[in-house]
Amino acid sequence: MRETRLPKHPKLAGLPLDHLGIAVHDLDETSLPYRLLGLVQVGEDELISSQGVRVRTLQAGESLIELLEPTTDESPIAAFLTKRGPGLHHVAFRVDDLKEAVERLASQGARFIDREPRAGRAGTRVAFLHPQWGVGVLIELVEHQ
Ligand code: CO
Repeated sequence: MRETRLPKHPKLAGLPLDHLGIAVHDLDETSLPYRLLGLVQVGEDELISSQGVRVRTLQAGESLIELLEPTTDESPIAAFLTKRGPGLHHVAFRVDDLKEAVERLASQGARFIDREPRAGRAGTRVAFLHPQWGVGVLIELVEHQ
């Protein structure tokens, strides 16, 4: 069996899962299964104009679910829905220091969509890694203020 050696770094040991982002056509229609599962909405729906997306956040234990509805045809979420239909869009990990995490991962060869952190939901700072680097998964790093 091939031995797998992962780089050990104290700040990357067991990063908590912050949220799963799920692309949907309609927030109200899509929330029902999650409500029946007992997940409760956190705060109000939030419009992120720069991304052309409306976000509804649900609490799932210590993690969150982000339901993402496109508000314009130019939204990356609209493009995702056209290409792949509704479903899992990204996986987000929580970091203490986003800038430091980005610099360190970039120095290890990670490919980023956002080399510079940008504004996310609820005052967070976020940076997305390239899905090819994530072996088919769009990975987001998120820092809470
Ligand atoms: Co997200």
